[in-house]
This record gives sequence, structure tokens and C-alpha cells, in this order.
Amino acid sequence: MFRLVCVRCAKAYPPDEIIYHCTRCGHLLAVEYDLDAVTITRSAWEKRPLSVWRYRELLPVSVSPVTLNEGGTPLYHLTRIGEELGLPFLYAKHEGMNPTGSFKDRGMTVGVSMAIQLKKSSVACASTGNTSASLAAYAARAGIPAVVLLPAGKVALGKVAQALMHGAKVLSIRGNFDRALEMVHELCLTHGLYLLNSVNPFRLEGQKTIGFEAIDQLGEVPDRIVLPVGNAGNISAVYKGCVELEKLGFLERMPMMTGIQAEGSMPVVRAIREGLAEVEPEPHPETVATAIRIGAPVNAEKALAAIRKTGGTAESVTDDEILAMQRMLAQNEGIGVEPASAASVAGVKKLVENGSIDKDEKIVCVVTGHLLKDPETVIRQCASPLEIDADLPSLLSALQSSS
Ligand code: F0G
Repeated sequence: MFRLVCVRCAKAYPPDEIIYHCTRCGHLLAVEYDLDAVTITRSAWEKRPLSVWRYRELLPVSVSPVTLNEGGTPLYHLTRIGEELGLPFLYAKHEGMNPTGSFKDRGMTVGVSMAIQLKKSSVACASTGNTSASLAAYAARAGIPAVVLLPAGKVALGKVAQALMHGAKVLSIRGNFDRALEMVHELCLTHGLYLLNSVNPFRLEGQKTIGFEAIDQLGEVPDRIVLPVGNAGNISAVYKGCVELEKLGFLERMPMMTGIQAEGSMPVVRAIREGLAEVEPEPHPETVATAIRIGAPVNAEKALAAIRKTGGTAESVTDDEILAMQRMLAQNEGIGVEPASAASVAGVKKLVENGSIDKDEKIVCVVTGHLLKDPETVIRQCASPLEIDADLPSLLSALQSSS
């Protein structure tokens, strides 16, 4: 059993109320379980396959889930990058290995299942790309229509391709993500579509399983979990999950929640650095990591609490640092991620260099989306393939000249 509770004033709402903000104070809502009634043991969990649904006792879904087999993503030991940074226990959880290539699938399997549970017949979101790709796929799986709003010209090619091919109604807004989110919110409130951005409390329930899986795969709680931050939903979700595990007695200590933003889009980092109670929105966010090109993160309040309560931190990285780490992950570790995802590992590099990270920490970086999401940014960084005549001497001479 669960109820919805305001994250600020704790006003409670019934589980089947379609509501995204507290009617008393306007803040976001979170799912609150009766943890005393949860009787699952860790060993029972461990007998199930690694997936979002391993943890179903801590999820709100009671209908048969709308699923594409999400979660169960690999946790890689970053041996070469770790050696270079002097971090022997550096890991990457590759969320790009989810069905549509990003962690959003964890949220959408739960969010779209809840749409069905709540008897909603259409869904919508605003997106920097990945949420729209994921929503389109899960809506197709559920057999219901989806509407997605994208910031025109600022969404990576692979993500638009996915949203279109999965049959969503795709609209490009002449404005940024923050404006698209305001618009879709209004559309949902006035026209009854079910909103599946991270203001939706159920979507974040799915995303918290990233932390559950990382802990299970590592066999212990990492000292630090590092995530790229855009709308700040994911870092808040992983923290919420850890709090639940702690309350259940499954967690001996909390990981330090650490958020990384791009320098041109860093309201959470500023708030942490300057000790602000709330973030000041960035009116013109800009970064090559378009997934996290967000100036007014709607989950910032929760993210600031997660970072502060766990003794974590927030750091910014430049576009050059992001792209350099994208190449390093690809070429030194064989791990292909999109730019926003590389921000988490680039952030760790910076935190090591400025002495904020202890070298024997066990660190899990969440790399959030697949390399193929944004092929244009990849192609811009790499030399074109050399075109040669179709004979062996040309091949050998090309190999010699490029070696
Ligand atoms: N990494 C990737 C690849 C993302 O797509 C996003 C968010 C984030 C990190 C940041 O996560 O917003 O929970 O802090 N993408 C959203 C979208 C906004 O529309 O796809 P967050």
C-alpha cells in the first residue's frame, strides 16, 4: 500500500488521485509506502533476475506491467580510467543498455503501467529527447497514443528518430525544454492526458531502481553515486530509493549523492556552492550535452536535500571536458555513451583533481544514455573514414600512412 505525500508540507493524497502538485503548497508529491507492511527479504530479491521488477514490493504498480525488459544494466569496472585518475574502485552503470537506450525506460515501465492502472487513455511529456523516445516506445507497447514536445533544433537525432518511429505525435516547440514542460503540463491539466515528466511521482519510482541494482551488483553500498543532472529527477529518485532501503534495514550507510551539470546549465551546482535554499533558474541554458540543457530543474528542491543530507556535492564540467570523457570511455573502456552521460565521469575526474574525492572511495557513475543517441556529436569529433580504391595495395598503403 502507498499514498502520495507532498515533499514540502506532507499533505497526503490517495494513491489513485491524478495529481502532480500539492494543492496546499504547490510542491511536488512523492510515493510513500507503508514500509512496515513490506515483508520482502534481501535474499528473496536476489533470487529474482536483475531488473526494475526485481524490486516490485517497492513499486506502486498492481496491474500487469507494461514492460520491454528494462533494467538489469551492466556495472562496469573502469580499470583504465580508474588507473589514470588514481581511483581503484571506479565503476560505471551503463543505463544506455536499456531497451530504448537510456535510464528513462525504468521510469516509463512504471509510469505507463500506472497510466493503465489509473485508466488513462493517452500520455504526454516534454523532453530533451530521451524521455520522448522512451515514452513513445512504452505507449506503443501499451497501445495508447503519446504526445511529445521537444525544444526545436536541440534534440539529438537518434532520440527524435525513436520518438517518430514509435508513433508518437512529435511537436517541436520554438522555445527551450523549460517552456515545453510548462506547455505540456497545462495541456495535461486541461485536456486529461497523463503527464509523464519527472513531476510524475510514479516515474521516479522506476528510476530509483538504478541505485538498488548498483548496490546489488557491487555487493555493498558504494561510497558515492554520481549522476548527470538536468531536471534533477534521477538523483532525487536514487536518493529516495536509498532512504527506503535504509528504513527497511537493508542499507548500513547512505552513499554520497553527487550531481554533475554542464557549465552552461548549472543552477543546482550554483545553489550547492553558494549555500542557497533554492536554485536560481538559468534563463538561457546551453551545452553540447543537450539531454541536460535545462535551466529550471523541477526536482531541484529534492536534489539539493539529497546532496546535502548525504554529504555529497555538485560540480560542473565544460563541454570540452564532457566530450573528452566521452572519447575516453569509448576508446579506453569500450563504453559508448552520449555526452550528458559522460558528464558524470568527467565530474569525478574534476572532483579528484581538486581534492574533493578520497582515492579509495567506491564510486558508481551512472552513465545515462547510449552513444548512438547522438551520432552527430560523435561524427563531429571523429575523422571521417578514409575512402580508398578497392584493391589490396591501396589498403596496405592506407594502413601504413595512418599508422
Ligand atoms: N542524462 C541523460 C542522457 C538524460 O536524457 C537526462 C534527462 C539526464 C541525464 C538528466 O536526468 O533530468 O533526471 O536530472 N533527460 C530528460 C529528457 C530531461 O527529456 O530526456 P534528470
